[in-house]
Amino acid sequence: MWIFLNDKFVRKEEALVSVFDHGFLYGDGIYETLRSYGPRLFMHPQHLARLFRSAEAIGLTIPIHRERWPELLHESMERNDVGTLEQDAYLRITVSRGVGGIGLDPGLCPSATIVILAQPLVAPAPALYDIGVDVMLATTRRNLPSALSPQIKSLNFLNNILAKREALAAGAFDSLLLNWEGHLTEGTISNLFFVTDGQLCTPSLACGLLDGITRSIVLQLAKEQNITVAEGRFTPAQLYQSDESFVTNTSMEIMPVTSVDRKPIGDGKPGPITRKLRELFLGARERFLEPASSQ
Ligand code: PDD
Repeated sequence: MWIFLNDKFVRKEEALVSVFDHGFLYGDGIYETLRSYGPRLFMHPQHLARLFRSAEAIGLTIPIHRERWPELLHESMERNDVGTLEQDAYLRITVSRGVGGIGLDPGLCPSATIVILAQPLVAPAPALYDIGVDVMLATTRRNLPSALSPQIKSLNFLNNILAKREALAAGAFDSLLLNWEGHLTEGTISNLFFVTDGQLCTPSLACGLLDGITRSIVLQLAKEQNITVAEGRFTPAQLYQSDESFVTNTSMEIMPVTSVDRKPIGDGKPGPITRKLRELFLGARERFLEPASSQ
């Protein structure tokens, strides 16, 4: 396995980061997850824009120019023999504050640490899309945006990990987190949607959640199909009483949620609007891929 570390590709065994790296010491850094379909990157300008927005939000300078990133991502895929016609790629970019002495001052770290991993994308088992998944409401609340904005994809992932631990302990597929006011936000690595009386509902960004790239595509597709969309503040009761639900992210795409806290949503099967949006998503994917010529 070849890993891009700071300024060059090295073998996995040589891809080592210092114990004085502030990403390790303090979770001071950011990351981004991308994927390919075959050799073509999916929504990479949006993912790179979010990477740079996250960096800016924490005052971190990414030393590699925005324009060089697609080439590095492609080289990562090629060296690891992923992003091929047989194997979609999972790509993870990590940028930490870098190596410095003990102390919170980012000025202790002269340069950021950069890592790019490319490995085979592991998609959920196909049967899950037919039966849907069970999620639970976690007792862990989503970070208060004024304390740590969920818009920053930070290396401080404990908020989500604590909620994930709850899901694992309960045998649920994932947890949904409520915000400080008890309104729905998102899953540990996904955005949440539900459908009531034909209206597609999703918590608004103001509730404190990541501006998911798959979420934005779903909203766009729904609007194109004249499905009424409501972005707002929703309670757990509204989700329990909904007709359908699903969660979205880059690697899962659109995953039906058929029960919450073991209580069925609607008739306990993936609903018609969920299935329609999934079909539209798969059909429209081409629009969100880089042109074939850029590989
Ligand atoms: N996570 N919400 C959270 C908290 C996330 O971490 C993610 C993505 C999403 C969905 O965003 P997108 O549609 O842009 O993938 C929502 C990725 C998969 C991760 O952490 O690896």
